Amino acid sequence: MKPKILVTGGTGYIGSHTVVELQNSGYEVVIVDNLSNSSADVVDNIEKVSGIRPAFEMVDCLDFNGMNVVFDKHPGIKAIIHFAASKAVGESVEKPLLYYRNNLVSLINVLELMPIHKVEGIVFSSSCTVYGQPDELPVTENAPIKKAESPYGNTKQINEEIVRDTVASGAPISAILLRYFNPIGAHPTALLGELPNGVPQNLIPYLTQTAIGIREQLSVFGDDYDTPDGSCIRDFINVVDLAKAHVIAIDRILENKQNETVEVFNIGTGTGLSVLELIKGFEEATGVKLNYKIVGRRAGDIEKVWANPDLANNVLGWKAVETIEDTLRSAWNWQLKLRERGIQ
Ligand code: UD1
Repeated sequence: MKPKILVTGGTGYIGSHTVVELQNSGYEVVIVDNLSNSSADVVDNIEKVSGIRPAFEMVDCLDFNGMNVVFDKHPGIKAIIHFAASKAVGESVEKPLLYYRNNLVSLINVLELMPIHKVEGIVFSSSCTVYGQPDELPVTENAPIKKAESPYGNTKQINEEIVRDTVASGAPISAILLRYFNPIGAHPTALLGELPNGVPQNLIPYLTQTAIGIREQLSVFGDDYDTPDGSCIRDFINVVDLAKAHVIAIDRILENKQNETVEVFNIGTGTGLSVLELIKGFEEATGVKLNYKIVGRRAGDIEKVWANPDLANNVLGWKAVETIEDTLRSAWNWQLKLRERGIQ
C-alpha cells in the first residue's frame, strides 16, 4: 500500500473520480467533504467501483479545528489534493463574499495544517479561467494571467498566489497547480458522474438533461463569435483522464521528481471543439437527437480557449487518451443511470 492521501471535496464530481484512480494505483484515501454539493452515497459508489471503501469525514474545510482532528485521526497523510471549493460562476457574482470565504479560507486552513502534520505536498485544482481570453492559442502555462471575469475565477488566481507565497516563505511544502480545461463525462461504470444542484449552468449536464427530457431545450449561447461555426470553442477533457493527472502529480511530489517546488500544468486535450460540434458529436455518439436553439451570448463567456498540453505530456508524463465519442457516451450513460436510480 502506498501512502495515505487526503482528498478534500472527495465526494464531488472530479474528486470522486480521482479517489477511485488513487485507490486503483494503491494509495489509501481519506475523504473530507461537507456534502454541500454532493451526497454520502458517493462513498458507496466509490467502493462499488474500486472495491475499497475510502475513509470519509464529513467536515467543512473552513473548520480549522475539525480539520486538525481529521489529521490526528488519520496519521501519516503524506499529501493532499484540494478540490473542496464553490464553483458556480454566476452564483459567485451574486455572493462574492461566500466565494472568497469558502475558497480562500479552506485553502489557507489546509496550508496551515500541512506542516503541523508533516504533510509534504499539495495538488491544487486550478482552472484555465486564469487565462481569460488568451492572446495566443493553444494557450501555454506561460501565458499572462488576465483579470478575472468573476469572483469564482478570482479565487482560482488568488489561491494560486497563496500557494506560491506560502512555498516561497519557506514552508516545507511542494505543490502542483493543475489548470483544468472543461472536464466532462462520467465513469465508464456509470456509478460516478456530475450531479448538479438545481438547473445546470454547465453545458454537458444541461445537454444530457435536455436529451432525457428533464429540460425542454438547450440554449446555445451565441453563434456570432469569431470561430468557424460562430459558437464558442472549449477543450473538453474526460473526467477520468483528468483524475489520472492527479495521481501522476501525487506520484511526482512524493517521489521528489519536481523541477521546482511549485509547478503548474495545463490539463487539457490540446484540441478545441465548438459548442455546436459537441452537440453534433453527442447526437452521433448516442443516436439521440437534441432539441436546441441558438440564443444570445452569455455574459462573461470566453470566445475560444484550448490547451497546449505539451508540458503535462512531456514533463508530467500525462496525456488525455479518451475519445470525445466515448466521453459523450459516458455522460449519456450516467444520465440514463440517474433516471434508473430515480434521482433525476
Ligand atoms: C466555466 C468556468 C470555468 C469552470 C467551469 C466549471 C469561466 C470563464 N469558466 O467554464 O472556470 O471551471 O465553468 O464550473 O469562468 N453553453 C451553452 N449553453 C448552456 C451552457 C453552456 O451554450 O446551457 C456554452 C457556454 O456558452 C460555453 C460552453 O458552453 O461556450 C461551455 O460552458 P460551461 O460548461 O458553462 O463552461 P465554461 O463557461 O467554459
